[in-house]
Amino acid sequence: MSEEKERTGFGMPRPSRSAESKPQKKADSENEPNSDAKADSDEPDSDTLADDDELDLASEFEKSGVEEVLKSLDTELVGLAPVKQRIREISALLLVDNARRKFGLSTSRPNLHMSFTGSPGTGKTTVALQMSELLHRLGYLRRGHLIAVTRDDLVGQYVGHTAPKTKDVLKKAMGGVLFIDEAYYLYRAENERDYGQESIEILLQVMENQREDIVVILAGYKDRMDSFFASNPGMSSRVAHHIDFPDFSVEELEEIGHLMVDKEGYAFAPETEKVFAQYVRRRKEQPRFANARSIRNAIERARLRHANRVLESSSPTTRDQLMRLEPEDFLGSRVFEETDSQPEHS
Ligand SMILES: Nc1ncnc2c1ncn2[C@@H]1O[C@H](COP(=O)(O)OP(=O)(O)OP(=O)(O)O)[C@@H](O)[C@H]1O
Ligand SMILES: [Mg+2]
Repeated sequence: MSEEKERTGFGMPRPSRSAESKPQKKADSENEPNSDAKADSDEPDSDTLADDDELDLASEFEKSGVEEVLKSLDTELVGLAPVKQRIREISALLLVDNARRKFGLSTSRPNLHMSFTGSPGTGKTTVALQMSELLHRLGYLRRGHLIAVTRDDLVGQYVGHTAPKTKDVLKKAMGGVLFIDEAYYLYRAENERDYGQESIEILLQVMENQREDIVVILAGYKDRMDSFFASNPGMSSRVAHHIDFPDFSVEELEEIGHLMVDKEGYAFAPETEKVFAQYVRRRKEQPRFANARSIRNAIERARLRHANRVLESSSPTTRDQLMRLEPEDFLGSRVFEETDSQPEHS
């Protein structure tokens, strides 16, 4: 079982911010209700706008830097139209919420806990990272980092281990997003005294009392998450946004491949296009297919074959050769073997 891991970054752009693991300004007080209530108080502050003032929302939008993140979501992520739409809606809500506050309109902080459901490799972790960035830019998260955990990071093996473990993770996540992958493993219906329940109870309490300072995103397969929510109505009612990540179509997977190749500074030779399209169709039908992740793995394997090929070639190497992926770089994959083998990563 894995140790607790704190993952931040994931190679995604984190524009103009170096917040990562700086110590927090004040001591964390993970179970103290309403700690750090910061800008969310309803009291009008000195620069509250007058009733007949006007606010240029478009320029507020621009100033917040949110558009930048939304644009990068649009250009860097293929497909996922309903996901992108929901994220735009949430951003609009928060921006309008900020504007209302400027006019002294009392407004309670919207509930921002979410569930991201979908098959492996559909972009849940990637989008969660962008979400933490957005919420930070909109002023809803003071740090905007993301801590990704699974059951093992939250639940102990012995009596008395779970509470400190869960509280420790929560403490690290304060001011940012706590991303709980495969959240349904926290709950084991067959075992009433499973320690997972203790962790769930602490999470529920913090999700309610400290929602000023933490956003919890629960992720996993849709059907399992649905039954998790059915067995844990308290959890379900605290999650405001249920976002479903659809599987990618073959065309989208191809486009994702092109995007990745381009981003890595490689290019397909013209004949490679067709071979790659065949690769995608075959791989999609095979076991352990993981959407965009399988595509990333395929490209990494192609890069290995390419490197081998270039190194073995006797002629001097050109820039073009260093960039160009040839059909054989994909045809070498087990995906093209006739026998029904079980590919691991390519
Ligand atoms: N829509 C997309 N367009 C381009 N690349 C994508 C897209 N979705 C995911 N990727 C890429 O695919 C890889 C896997 O994505 P990610 O880790 O976000 O998936 P996930 O849903 O969290 O998977 P898992 O459920 O297995 O944790 C990453 O390298 C990511 O950059
Ligand atoms: Mg993930």
